[in-house]
Amino acid sequence: MIELSQVTKTFPGATTPAVDRLTFSIDEGEVVVLVGPSGCGKTTTLKMINRLIEPSGGTITVDGQDVLSLQAHQLRRGVGYVIQQIGLFPHKTVGANIATVPNLLGWDKARTQARVAELAELVELPSDALSRYPSELSGGQRQRVGVARALAADPPVLLMDEPFGAVDPIVRANLQDELLALQSSLKKTIVLVTHDIDEAIKLGDRVAILSEGGHLEQYASPAEILRNPANAFVADFLGSDRGIKRLSLIPISSVQLDPGPVLPRSASKAEATAMMKRYDIGWAAIGEGTRVEGWFTAEDLVGHDTLERVSAREYQIKLRPDDSLREALDAVITSHTAVAAVFDGEKYLGMATVDEISREIVQ
Ligand SMILES: Nc1ncnc2c1ncn2[C@@H]1O[C@H](COP(=O)(O)OP(=O)(O)O)[C@@H](O)[C@H]1O
Ligand SMILES: [Mg+2]
Repeated sequence: MIELSQVTKTFPGATTPAVDRLTFSIDEGEVVVLVGPSGCGKTTTLKMINRLIEPSGGTITVDGQDVLSLQAHQLRRGVGYVIQQIGLFPHKTVGANIATVPNLLGWDKARTQARVAELAELVELPSDALSRYPSELSGGQRQRVGVARALAADPPVLLMDEPFGAVDPIVRANLQDELLALQSSLKKTIVLVTHDIDEAIKLGDRVAILSEGGHLEQYASPAEILRNPANAFVADFLGSDRGIKRLSLIPISSVQLDPGPVLPRSASKAEATAMMKRYDIGWAAIGEGTRVEGWFTAEDLVGHDTLERVSAREYQIKLRPDDSLREALDAVITSHTAVAAVFDGEKYLGMATVDEISREIVQ
């Protein structure tokens, strides 16, 4: 869908190129994240794809067409662009901001209005937001407006430059999730720039790691990069917690879960105590098969001969099979029970312990 071949950019007066003979290609419908330290040429590369910056050399094609041969309006229709710091027009309403490209393309009013309403719903803006001004929205909402504006003419390609840079970490995580959800239905070709390796790992089907001068150090799936960094630069950029990062890519469903210390109501106190001993923990769960009511501690057994009347405590954290092992590890560390109980809806599947999780890290 997008091909860069020997693309170079030397800014006027610069002695070395900002981007030096960069070659890579992006398939239709994939999310490619360009990541690297500040000043390595990420923004320059992105801007050359839609000709906000003219390359000094090399060729770039989008959907088979040389971008240098395309008219500005053709590029605008085919390539949506979300810029760093969002860049909404402050004196225009949110609705007018989203309508920017349809207006440039000369759509009639009814079509534009219908499209704006559709996009507001798609990115989950509150219904009254369209008549407000960008300054009256939260950072997360402004970010959604930026995405809606880029999607307005339904371009097959979306370029996003640090799209979540301006918001706090919680909003950022939500926006990342929303982008992934949106992408699973829209299936755009997305090139996203970030300096945040965790964001790259989370969002990218493939990740291009760049060093200064737009030098491509590695271009592969997040799992492959984490498993097998191409060189010392990449390993260093990934950081010392590379093993932990890998966990975020592995779903709980891919590991063999332990059935856990589960006993039926009919079990005796002695059986419960023996079970805790076997697992070397201070609690056990009440249930049978895939039905688990909750858990209890050794103290909860005082005054009981069986589990018949012991009250079951709720699991604070219930993990789902499609949660990652990194989430499981968080749960293990923060929960009272020191394990992560995994449920598929109401169905108890078992528990993940540090043993199961760490086995994946060392592999
Ligand atoms: N308009 C410009 N004029 C001159 N130099 C520029 C311009 N834009 C970027 N540069 C330089 O090009 C290099 C790459 O910049 P940029 O692509 O913005 O990096 P990144 O987005 O990876 O942080 C930097 O050294 C930067 O100073
Ligand atoms: Mg940049």
